Amino acid sequence: MSLKSKIMKKKNESIQRPISLQPGESASVVSPIYPSVVYASETPDMLDDQYEGRVQGYTYAREGHPNATALAKQIDLLEQTDGGIITGSGMAAITAAIMGTLSSGDHIVGGDQLYGRSLRLMKSDLPRFGIEVSLTNVTDISKVKGAIKSNTKLILVELVSNPTLRVADISGIVSLCREKDIKLLVDNTFTTPKAFKPVSAGADIVVNSVTKLLAGHSDVTLGYVVAKDKKLNKSIYDFIVTTGLTPSPYECWLAERGLMTFSLRFDSSQATALGLAKYLAVNENVDRVIYPTLPDHPDAAHVKQNLGSNGCNIVSFELKNKTREAANRFVKQLDGIAFAPTLGDVGTTLSHPASSSHRGLSEDERLTLGITEGFFRVSVGLEDISSLTEKFELALKHT
Ligand SMILES: Cc1ncc(COP(=O)(O)O)c(C=O)c1O
Repeated sequence: MSLKSKIMKKKNESIQRPISLQPGESASVVSPIYPSVVYASETPDMLDDQYEGRVQGYTYAREGHPNATALAKQIDLLEQTDGGIITGSGMAAITAAIMGTLSSGDHIVGGDQLYGRSLRLMKSDLPRFGIEVSLTNVTDISKVKGAIKSNTKLILVELVSNPTLRVADISGIVSLCREKDIKLLVDNTFTTPKAFKPVSAGADIVVNSVTKLLAGHSDVTLGYVVAKDKKLNKSIYDFIVTTGLTPSPYECWLAERGLMTFSLRFDSSQATALGLAKYLAVNENVDRVIYPTLPDHPDAAHVKQNLGSNGCNIVSFELKNKTREAANRFVKQLDGIAFAPTLGDVGTTLSHPASSSHRGLSEDERLTLGITEGFFRVSVGLEDISSLTEKFELALKHT
């Protein structure tokens, strides 16, 4: 008797499970949520078939569940990859990508302007496990070459750095990786697969913080990782399953819903971000504006080669008055814009790196990056450009 007919035949008064909830011949348009932690198989033979990949089926939610699969498949389509894995956060994806690839004694090179927690992982945690780390300027290929050692196995890059929006020399790094047999891991969170497809560009592993633009509503914390090489992908998957970096079905379901509008949100936010960048560039209270497609961008050639006409949804700028007092007044007056260190929400958010993401650096280290007290990063959401510029106009007058 099959498992399904066994389930249907249970007819006593006591509660029992599993009870089948098959919807009949019609199909649900929306993915159902599968909160089940365990999945029942028909026989030990069937379990063998599942574990050995001869039949598809779930066993235990930490190892995988339908909502994670549904979300991973959608992101695979966007990234033009296959076999993506969903994790409980973007940092879980980055950790798994590194720990699934490297062993003690290996060396990793990372961009020196990576996301703060990635930098912390590189500087403080990986060395504790015997992994050597070097950080370097990934916009300059000679610096990357100079950082390579005989035991270098992995390079971690974000195409666009946060918050100074410098753009890496990805094609130079891809050639270097091929020449030296080094794997390239790209964190595609800022750029998203709409603006840049790392695997098509030659990367071996891609991660995304799904928390940001892909899910888009600041109500889930999730990550995505995929490696082109199946063996490496399996090693990353095993690390995730063993260490429990697994996502919740509810969050996967919510992120899948958010993802349905990702493309529209991205296009709209990016167009508004360019409008805001142009507006800020001529405001008398603003000293400088950084946006990838503005003509004065320091890495214009890398932008053109990798992003085409895309600039993404982030604009950074610096006030003329670079004091903390002016920064406080500006934030206080910027009505209706959340002052919150995140990005990719449907609503525009503002962050002040000197007091948040880069507060751990000394003032001199911040100044080397160009981050003064007057430096701000805007993650542009879905508001009309006119309502945004009106708000910025008023707040900038108080600086
Ligand atoms: C570029 C980048 N990568 C990774 C992360 C980490 O993602 P999560 O917050 O989902 O762990 C972030 C978070 O801000 C990020 O900005």
